[in-house]
Amino acid sequence: MKMASNGVRAVRGFWVVFLVLLRLSCSAGQMVPALFVFGDSLVDVGNNDYLPISIARANFPPYGVDFPTKKPTGRFSNGKNAADFIAEKLGLPTSPPYLALISNSSESNSSLPFLTGVSFASAGAGIFDGTDEILHQSIPLTKQVEYYLAVHQNLVQHMGSSGAQKHVAKSLFLIVIGSNEIFTYSRSSDLRKQQTPQQYVDLMASSLKDQLKRLYSNGARKFVFAGLPPIGCCPLQRNQNKTDGCKEDTNSWSRMYNEALLAMVKGLKSELNDMSYSYLDIYNVVQKFIQNPSAYGFTEVKDACCGLVNPIAIIPCLPISQYCSYRRDHVFWDLVHPTEETNRMFIDIAFHGSPQYTYPVDVQQLATVET
Ligand SMILES: *[C@@H]1O[C@H](CO)[C@@H](O)[C@H](O)[C@H]1NC(C)=O
Ligand SMILES: *[C@@H]1O[C@H](CO)[C@@H](O)[C@H](O)[C@H]1NC(C)=O
Repeated sequence: MKMASNGVRAVRGFWVVFLVLLRLSCSAGQMVPALFVFGDSLVDVGNNDYLPISIARANFPPYGVDFPTKKPTGRFSNGKNAADFIAEKLGLPTSPPYLALISNSSESNSSLPFLTGVSFASAGAGIFDGTDEILHQSIPLTKQVEYYLAVHQNLVQHMGSSGAQKHVAKSLFLIVIGSNEIFTYSRSSDLRKQQTPQQYVDLMASSLKDQLKRLYSNGARKFVFAGLPPIGCCPLQRNQNKTDGCKEDTNSWSRMYNEALLAMVKGLKSELNDMSYSYLDIYNVVQKFIQNPSAYGFTEVKDACCGLVNPIAIIPCLPISQYCSYRRDHVFWDLVHPTEETNRMFIDIAFHGSPQYTYPVDVQQLATVET
């Protein structure tokens, strides 16, 4: 009897310890300690609202119409964007805009404002320091990386260098950039005379590589790369095709860049073998939506929900714009940005997609890689 009751107690003790441990790991509920976001309007969660003169802002309705408050937040979407969904899946709060954290002194005074990550993404940003950046209308990638270096310093101060190293090495670095270079190339016949598409995309990839190395030197080990979408299929570009089709040259530059990006990342991985990454093939995901919309719940793959496109006029999404009453069946929210629903699907695929669209590992697998 005595032995049995001891046994019961031991078993019960085991379960208590087990449940407490389980609870600790679940109450954290996080797959990784932090998410650091770099990129453009596809993942901007409000940085540009803090730039003094930027016109690249989504701080007016109907942007944000599908948030419970219906308020615009600086996201170029009717609701959440891909940065929100990826954080949600990782069990993290959305990484807040860096400029909000540093402008709000009371928040930055809290002991560790950057602990679960921060977003440097800025609408209009590119890999190259373009004119937008010189006019301070967006934060170019080089500057985003400089901001990260400051955050890294802050983490080292608070956690010590080995604590910060472990924290950052387990964290994910999301990189969503390059569309603005392709838009620029598409707009500028001068640029197209100076550089072949291949030269241009190779320069994009090698410039990105320099920035990735800076991140790596400051602790980054796990990267999530989004390839470019078929940019020639966004409503703004379709408008330049008389038959309403996708703009084929722009699409070919997007594909060319994606190939250059993948080759560069593979090269980087062979140089730095303790880095790991997940690549999301947004190009082919969007093509799939366009070719077979009903399979994914879409009925409108060409027109923007907000604003108006027709063969004569393009009207962007503005406070006075009409917008569709049902957003979930549109791939595009405005002339260039996806709807919340499209963003949700991107991230579902990034976490649980077929290996055809997310490789060499998906984001869920990347999160569990030991560093
Ligand atoms: C942070 O806030 C506390 C009071 O809330 C204040 O005493 C302290 O000086 C502040 N620290 C900094 C670095 O601003
Ligand atoms: C316009 O779209 C059609 C398909 O509808 C395509 O065949 C054609 O190449 C496109 N034109 C340009 C200039 O991209």
